[in-house]
Amino acid sequence: MHYYDKNALKLSHLYIKEHLKEGCTAVDATMGRGRDTLLLSQVVGTGGHVFAFDIQDEAVQATKALLLEHGRENVTLLLESHDKMEDYVQAADAVIFNFGFLPGGDHSVFSHADVSCRAIDAALRILKPDGFISLCIYYGGDTGFEERDGILNHLAALDQKAYTVMLQSFYNRKNCPPLFAIIEKNRP
Ligand SMILES: C[S@@+](CC[C@H](N)C(=O)[O-])C[C@H]1O[C@@H](n2cnc3c(N)ncnc32)[C@H](O)[C@@H]1O
Repeated sequence: MHYYDKNALKLSHLYIKEHLKEGCTAVDATMGRGRDTLLLSQVVGTGGHVFAFDIQDEAVQATKALLLEHGRENVTLLLESHDKMEDYVQAADAVIFNFGFLPGGDHSVFSHADVSCRAIDAALRILKPDGFISLCIYYGGDTGFEERDGILNHLAALDQKAYTVMLQSFYNRKNCPPLFAIIEKNRP
C-alpha cells in the first residue's frame, strides 16, 4: 500500500474492509450523509446489522435516501447523540467516528470534545474483545483544535493492557490534514 494517494477517510475504509466481517454488528457514530453507513452495511452483509447515529435530521434523511438507492435494509438510523449509543446497542464489533460537521450542511453544528470523549467511552464499553473503533479527527478551520486535543489526550490515557491505540498523521501535508486513529480492544 502507498500513502501518497490516501487520506484519513481512505485509511479508515481500508481498515474497515480488512477487519470487519460479514455477520458483524457495527455502529456508525457520525452518520452524516451516510457514505460510511453504506460501506458498513455492505461489509457486514444481510446477516449483520448497522446502527447509525446523528443529531441532525438532515443527515438521517440523506442517509435514508442513500440506503434506499442501494437497496440496503440492514441498518437502523437513529436521530440521537452518539454518547447515548448504549441505550440502543448492547455489543458491537466496530464503531466508526468521522467527527466534524455535516458536509454541505451547517458548519456551526459539529462534534465537541466533551461529548466525543463520552461517546468514545460508551463505544469502548459496548465493544467486543478484538473489536475496533475507527476515528477520523478533523481540526483547524471552522472546528478549531479543541476537539482534536481533547480526543488525543483521552486516547493517550487509555489503559495499554486493555487497548491498543494507533495514530496516523500525514505529517508534512499543509492545511490541517485529518488524523486517523484506531483503538483495538485487546484480547483478554
Ligand atoms: C463529518 S460528518 C460525518 C460524515 C459521514 N460519516 C458520511 O459518511 O457522510 C460528522 C457528522 O457528525 C454529526 N455529529 C456531530 N455531533 C454529533 C453527536 N453528538 N452525535 C452524533 N452525531 C454527531 C454531525 O451532525 C455530522 O453529520
